[in-house]
Amino acid sequence: MSNTKLLLRNQTAVITGASGGIGGAIAIALGKAGANVVINYYKDEEGAKETQQAIVDAGSKAFILKGDVGKEEDVIELFQKAKETFGAVHILINNAGIQIDEPFLSLSYESWKQVIQTNLSGAFLCAREAAKCFDEQGVDEEVSKASGKIVFISSVHDTIPWSGRVNYATSKGGMKMMMKSIAQELAPSKVRVNSISPGAIKTPINEHEWGNKEGEQKMLAKIPYGRIGEPDDIGGVAAWLVSDQADYITGTTVYVDGGMTLYPSFQEED
Ligand code: NAI
Repeated sequence: MSNTKLLLRNQTAVITGASGGIGGAIAIALGKAGANVVINYYKDEEGAKETQQAIVDAGSKAFILKGDVGKEEDVIELFQKAKETFGAVHILINNAGIQIDEPFLSLSYESWKQVIQTNLSGAFLCAREAAKCFDEQGVDEEVSKASGKIVFISSVHDTIPWSGRVNYATSKGGMKMMMKSIAQELAPSKVRVNSISPGAIKTPINEHEWGNKEGEQKMLAKIPYGRIGEPDDIGGVAAWLVSDQADYITGTTVYVDGGMTLYPSFQEED
């Protein structure tokens, strides 16, 4: 058995929006590290099945459940089913998210509400239900040093303002303080809460940008490390962050962005 296999053995992870993209890659990475995985998906059942198959192929267990993270009853059901199936929940990856780009002057209240509902309220609902599971279980040192771990998949736009996407940047900025406040409140109960803030990662959410040569070049100009990220860049970091190797990390954000937050426009020219 490899070392990575040992990292999350006997732990159950709930991952929202895990039918593909970053959520799919995280689900597979956690499955490869030995976790039982609960795959929440919204629309893409085929994608969810592919994620499940990859986890089963890696020797771990996975089940699929459709649900809207912005609906309280769906979220309660998600965690109930996770507990029924695997007996406990140790990890939540709050990944589900949407982006609806509109200039501020014409940003509709509907688009504002939709993005906040999914990205921020959905993350809150899932975090609260996960925390209840952790509280019931307490710490089992045989399984993990923490009673539970929550990772928010935020964005570099929790710190970089983004014109034309005020709804999205606000949801991720709010997520940052939600993460820190929950981390502060639950640290005495041995719950670790952190964020991963990706830069530009090739997924369907931003295909309209990287999917053509001009868009790709514009993206690359913002990335000092010189490549657009892949979902696996996030998967590996997430698996490590929820493992006991990262046991002393709580209330912080790991930027996985090829240096996007280094303000590359300030780089000295030759
Ligand atoms: P994606 O569009 O492939 O994935 C988003 C997932 O969330 C999809 O599976 C979608 O079905 C699901 N989802 C949407 N609404 C939902 C709802 N109400 N309930 C449950 N699931 C729902 O895009 P990607 O890139 O994989 O996004 C994952 C997360 O990463 C998002 O939170 C996004 O904001 C964040 N992110 C992505 C970046 C990128 O460059 N791709 C950069 C920074 C952050």
